[in-house]
Amino acid sequence: MKEKELRIRYSVADHPDQLNEKDRKLFLMATQAVSTAYAPYSKFKVGAAVLLADGKVVKGSNQENMAYPSGLCAERVALFSASAGFPGVQVVSIAVAADPLAPDATVTPCGACRQVMMEYEKLYEHPIRIITGAVKGPITVVENAGALLPLSFFDAGLQKEELD
Ligand code: THU
Repeated sequence: MKEKELRIRYSVADHPDQLNEKDRKLFLMATQAVSTAYAPYSKFKVGAAVLLADGKVVKGSNQENMAYPSGLCAERVALFSASAGFPGVQVVSIAVAADPLAPDATVTPCGACRQVMMEYEKLYEHPIRIITGAVKGPITVVENAGALLPLSFFDAGLQKEELD
């Protein structure tokens, strides 16, 4: 049996000012989307902003429901909205912002959202840059969704039906 090791590379900014201009602008849009969250149950408001290859930005926020599992994270609201509104337009990056109770909390996407990011990364054969963190920092930057989901469920032999 062979032992293997996976490493991921990521950067951390203590404050949004430390991000490059493109990332900072997208992160600011995610921050603005926090106010549109509907999170009466968790009180944890999250905003997301997806940058598409044609320059459009699609925002989203978490939407909760009394039947808890029926709600959806900000990342998936934004990504599904982008795919539904602009099908076939490549996703370049996604910013995610939350206002956590603990000021230095690390805010990163949940496993299900990482899996959804992977889908679009594979679909468009292009890495999705992820900028994710607390509104005032710290913010984690990862070059691609695959880095956040090692040994992910993909290419498991499921046949994808080709769309016209
Ligand atoms: N949530 C997100 O919107 N994004 C994440 O990355 C993690 C969690 C939402 C789901 C739920 O509405 C609330 O935060 C608490 O889990």
